[in-house]
Amino acid sequence: MQVLNMAKIASIVGARPNFVKLAPFSRELRKTLHEVIIHTGQHYNYEMDKVFFDEMGIPKPDYHLNAGSGTHGRQTGEMLARIEDVLVKEEPDAVVVFGDTNTTLAGALAASKLHIPIAHVEAGLRSFDRRMPEEINRVLVDHCSDMLFCPTETAVENLRKEGVTKGVSLTGDVMVDALRMCLEIAEKDSKVMEDLGLRPKDYCLATVHRASNTDDISCLKDIVEAFQDLGDVVFPCHPRAEKYLRQYGLYDGLKARVRIVKPVGYLDMLMLEKNARKVLTDSGGVQKEAYIMGVPCITMRDTTEWVETVQDGWNALVGPERIAITEKVRNFNPKSKQREVFGSGDASQKITEKIKEWLK
Ligand code: UD1
Ligand code: UDP
Repeated sequence: MQVLNMAKIASIVGARPNFVKLAPFSRELRKTLHEVIIHTGQHYNYEMDKVFFDEMGIPKPDYHLNAGSGTHGRQTGEMLARIEDVLVKEEPDAVVVFGDTNTTLAGALAASKLHIPIAHVEAGLRSFDRRMPEEINRVLVDHCSDMLFCPTETAVENLRKEGVTKGVSLTGDVMVDALRMCLEIAEKDSKVMEDLGLRPKDYCLATVHRASNTDDISCLKDIVEAFQDLGDVVFPCHPRAEKYLRQYGLYDGLKARVRIVKPVGYLDMLMLEKNARKVLTDSGGVQKEAYIMGVPCITMRDTTEWVETVQDGWNALVGPERIAITEKVRNFNPKSKQREVFGSGDASQKITEKIKEWLK
């Protein structure tokens, strides 16, 4: 136990979904182990970054690397170099990386070159679409990780099919832990429904940020037209989407017809999701949250990693096509019951236990 008390874990984060996953994990890990948080700076606007630390009680990062935005190679390379310097200095016993962002890949690569054991939280997810930058990140990170923490049985099976079985555990999803940790607080503290003048089940909540949807003018135009046709849409707009909406001259027309707001903090997001009539998204995390809260979800993508949400009838995939999107939003009304396919809210605890066993 003495050795474990001294063990040092470096958690590497940098983008919005990394922060949501870190929050419950860090809280649990710090009960028994020493954690150093390394923030790459991939996301940096207050509403994409610090709001999550403030609202979810995540400790201030020990290192902030200010890597910022860039092309994939440049951004990942900048982060890799800067993370390496910190790992050389800190000599952690293991690093933990989360999900599938460029931060996740940079963290795992830096650690693997230094022979530091890697734990991957949210291992084994696959869309089987290698054009998605996140798919490349996931595959590479899984194949250099020592501890692979899978949120679902599907993820375990995906790894098995790639020959990865060593170090694999089914732990459930830390995003369930995050949701359970924050929902009650959100119900009490969030004022977003009043602030936006919204009534429960009177609007659709939309998020869009996938490169395949935002960067391609014809896809983005179809999505914008679908939102305009629907009208009653509340759209917390990711900076990537805002950039391309403005570049393609679509922003003002959309703003005239639907409610565009800045990205919201996690507590407000939970309330907006819970009270939405339908959720329209291309986000991984939002698909799961909609499922857990029993809100029908229309995912504007041809594939999903979260196949259980579709199998159980709560998530419908549609390509970025105007008519298909509006048609689905109007007619998709799931009736089936959800299951606990993403675990029961104890993933952080299970992962911490597994890391401790591994360190022994
Ligand atoms: C990244 C992740 C994606 C994740 C998403 C969550 C990768 C490859 N992609 O995509 O998996 O779903 O985060 O939100 O890691 N920008 C700002 N301010 C910010 C952050 C971004 O203005 O705080 C703008 C910049 O113009 C930047 C663009 O958004 O170039 C894209 O940011 P980036 O971090 O490269 O990718 P995301 O699209 O956010
Ligand atoms: N989220 C948020 N505010 C927003 C949009 C998303 O708090 O305006 C949360 C969302 O509830 C989920 C996480 O961010 O917990 C998902 O991150 P994102 O959609 O950026 O990335 P993905 O899950 O697609 O990687």
